[in-house]
Amino acid sequence: MERKRIHPDGPEFSRLITGVWRWKELSTSAIERLIHQSVDAGITTFDHADIYGDYSCEEQFGAVLKGDPSVRKKIQLVTKCGIKLLSGKRPQHRVKHYDTSREHIVASVEQSLKNLNTDYLDLLLLHRPDPLMHTEEVAEAFGLLKQNGKVLHFGVSNFTSTQFDMLQSYVHDPLVTNQVELSLFQHQALFDGTVDTLMKHRVSSMAWSPLGGGKFFSSSGGDDAVNIPLEKMASQYKCSVSQLLLAWLLRHPSGIFPILGTTNPDRIAEGAGAINIELDRQDWFEMLKVVTGHDVA
Ligand SMILES: NC(=O)c1ccc[n+]([C@@H]2O[C@H](COP(=O)([O-])OP(=O)(O)OC[C@H]3O[C@@H](n4cnc5c(N)ncnc54)[C@H](OP(=O)(O)O)[C@@H]3O)[C@@H](O)[C@H]2O)c1
Repeated sequence: MERKRIHPDGPEFSRLITGVWRWKELSTSAIERLIHQSVDAGITTFDHADIYGDYSCEEQFGAVLKGDPSVRKKIQLVTKCGIKLLSGKRPQHRVKHYDTSREHIVASVEQSLKNLNTDYLDLLLLHRPDPLMHTEEVAEAFGLLKQNGKVLHFGVSNFTSTQFDMLQSYVHDPLVTNQVELSLFQHQALFDGTVDTLMKHRVSSMAWSPLGGGKFFSSSGGDDAVNIPLEKMASQYKCSVSQLLLAWLLRHPSGIFPILGTTNPDRIAEGAGAINIELDRQDWFEMLKVVTGHDVA
């Protein structure tokens, strides 16, 4: 598995990342298997958020790290903060809202460290742009967390290019990524300036829902006009459609890091195989045409 720095001064991650958003219903042994399957496939970076699984996924993952502390040294942990959900676990929340205050960022990291059974995070992301964000407070919180060694690097998620530039102008350390929705099916970030701005900063994006959230594979979500040409091209490359969709992202010169969302260990190994596919330039545009329905201008 290829490894790469997500920013010249950022962490080195596996080029494919395992995301835990959908792991809520899984047993500890199933989670353990997914972690080991990832690491065995060379996927050593894991994407969390404080809120995943109604505030439960970090803790479930942390239970595996507690059972085998040697795993922590082999992996990189990314988590997020800033969204406050309506939840029985947070009775003080009256409405779903964002909180990027210094106090909340620091408290959220303390809780994530406890949940994950670790004393540092490789990367912390602000989960969503917060209209009430006090940028100096974010900068202070990041500075404090860096100083005391609790977080090694910082970034954002779902930020527009303007929001990214704006926050970077306040934060001392480089923002090392912007985690955005990005797939063949949701490719706006490649065309609306989001990825261009990241390239200006020498930042690679993390792509969430790289398979479009699995829509392609659902019996109801299928669209023959899309599925048939993609299946045909996958057979030409002797790969699966999932691998072809990942290869489409990996082909981009900005060095995108796709985050696999599967709960199936076999699909982790399958996803890892995408790294070896070299997609031809014209096939890349052919795939784009399949989903847009027209040639580029
Ligand atoms: N920053 C954000 O705001 C944000 C938002 C959403 C997600 N994320 C991150 O991105 C990660 C990935 O997102 P995602 O889960 O939407 O990614 P995804 O990989 O696009 O979709 C995963 C879904 O596709 C299904 N799937 C994959 N391959 C399949 C196949 N061959 N046949 C049938 N079903 C298949 C999976 O089912 P199986 O489990 O059965 O394989 C799963 O339900 C999340 O875990 C999270 O870490 C971040």
